[in-house]
Amino acid sequence: MRTENNTEKALRVVGVQPSIPLTIVAGVILSLILLFLPFFFPPSGQTGPNPLAGIGRFHLLILHFPAALFPLILLFEIFKRLRPVVLPIIGTAVLSAFAASVLGVLLAANDGFSGELVVKHMWSCISATILSIFLFILKMLQQRTDNSALSGAYFILLFSTLGLLAFGSHQGASLVHGEGFLTEKFSLTKESADPITENSLVYDKLIQPILRDHCYHCHSVAKAKGGYRMDDFSLLLEGGDGGMPGIEPGNLEDSEVYYRITLAPDKKAFMPPAGHLPLTDHQIALIRWWIESGASMEASISTLLESHPATEVQALFDPDRPSN
Ligand code: HEC
Repeated sequence: MRTENNTEKALRVVGVQPSIPLTIVAGVILSLILLFLPFFFPPSGQTGPNPLAGIGRFHLLILHFPAALFPLILLFEIFKRLRPVVLPIIGTAVLSAFAASVLGVLLAANDGFSGELVVKHMWSCISATILSIFLFILKMLQQRTDNSALSGAYFILLFSTLGLLAFGSHQGASLVHGEGFLTEKFSLTKESADPITENSLVYDKLIQPILRDHCYHCHSVAKAKGGYRMDDFSLLLEGGDGGMPGIEPGNLEDSEVYYRITLAPDKKAFMPPAGHLPLTDHQIALIRWWIESGASMEASISTLLESHPATEVQALFDPDRPSN
């Protein structure tokens, strides 16, 4: 008679002894749910006072469980004495990844998300979850049969799952923090390497960073509140569902962006909405100067200063300027 191995002993002690056929059936059902859910709840940019959106926001809490547990599987495989608990760890990782995926789909479908980045994040993490379900089944088979071919397949599947998960999580982080978030602070990257000079482009160096910090969160590829995207220059000018141009070059009155950022902060239409850091007077002055001088994407600071002198901007090159 085959002797009980350590994992089986551990599982018997805690009272769990999953049967293989039952686990396979459960695994296939969970995988099918994950595969079809996004078709019932597509990320179509809809928002509403929807309880599903509220539930979906727990995605941001739950996702930390699989993110921590999957790398732990590798660690536990490396240290022989920890191996007996690998299967329960995979099981917990799979269930938390399943929960995170379902909540993520609900969040994306009900909280105004849409676009390529969301779709990439969603499908890579769903695929990783489905792979992990089969990882669990394979680990079970491997432990019960001690088959070395299964062991090879198991490690291939483990590394594929981890790779896909790392890719998916990175897409997810880009959704929250903006693309390039991880690299932007390293001095070797272009953006932080060159300081602002009079030859810098006004839009790149003065305007876009303000919009990126204060507005992209709700008005970009991942989320376009009010049907308005600001991360694409032509869409920034065009405007959103309200029908007014977002920015009308040379015309402050017709520029919805300028109207919104200069409203009284207690007005409902004020941007950014209550609870978000409003623009400083200095930032508003820069945007005003840029719109008045033609809202160009290509003009350099010195060119615009020549045609539209502005003390606010000139002050940027004043060595005694107080930082803000
Ligand atoms: C927390 C999310 C959020 C942030 C951050 C945010 N907005 Fe909005 N914005 C909205 C919502 C929601 C709407 C749609 C409701 C409305 O029109 O007030 C909207 C609508 C707009 C519109 C009208 C679009 C149209 O054509 O109807 C403009 C313009 C706008 N925002 C500009 C900005 C600017 C500029 C910033 C940054 C300074 C900003 N928003 C930051 C949520 C946000």
